[in-house]
Amino acid sequence: MKLEKLVIASNNGHKIEEISSILSGSEMKIFSLKDFPEFPDPEETGNTLEENSLIKAKAVSEKFNMPAIADDTGLFVNALNGEPGVYSARYSGENATYESNCQKLLDELKDKPDRSAEFRSVICLYINEPEKYFFEGIVKGSIINEKRGEKGFGYDPLFLPLHSEKTFAELTGEEKNKISHRSLALQKLKQFFD
Ligand code: IMP
Repeated sequence: MKLEKLVIASNNGHKIEEISSILSGSEMKIFSLKDFPEFPDPEETGNTLEENSLIKAKAVSEKFNMPAIADDTGLFVNALNGEPGVYSARYSGENATYESNCQKLLDELKDKPDRSAEFRSVICLYINEPEKYFFEGIVKGSIINEKRGEKGFGYDPLFLPLHSEKTFAELTGEEKNKISHRSLALQKLKQFFD
């Protein structure tokens, strides 16, 4: 499928950079919500990653009258029955920060021997109704006992991908982009465009 332009339904600089770098090379003109500062991030009111990615992509596509993509990501921790999952952004409350979320995760996992977890990303490409497509990427790993690394964002300093000695926050952006949940979903989107 060939599109002339696309808007990334996000204000998050880290995500915009990751997404733009993976989609670079195509002739598509790529915008993000940073180009439309008056438009607030749509609220994530769904109960699944699919619902939330659709809510965001649809709202932005309809507002700017062009195809939009939105991702919704969650960290699913087995010993916590899949928490924080869809609620990863607000895990430690309404005024949650990356720092407070990581701290809450460490507190909840104290004394839990099973540290296995996975990041799941769903990307929705919304063109119009009913033309919408979903792409999923999953990366398995574990939650370590204390933060390591300064790069990335969110839960990156606590997440050790399977077969890696470095946390996501110790990898360069390029290294993370090769294996991350979002990049796996984006590779599928890219193949769809190609
Ligand atoms: P969002 O709703 O897709 O923006 O993501 C929800 C939350 O998941 C974010 O606030 C981050 O805490 C976390 N998150 C999303 N993507 C990543 C990632 O690539 N690394 C670490 N944490 C992430």
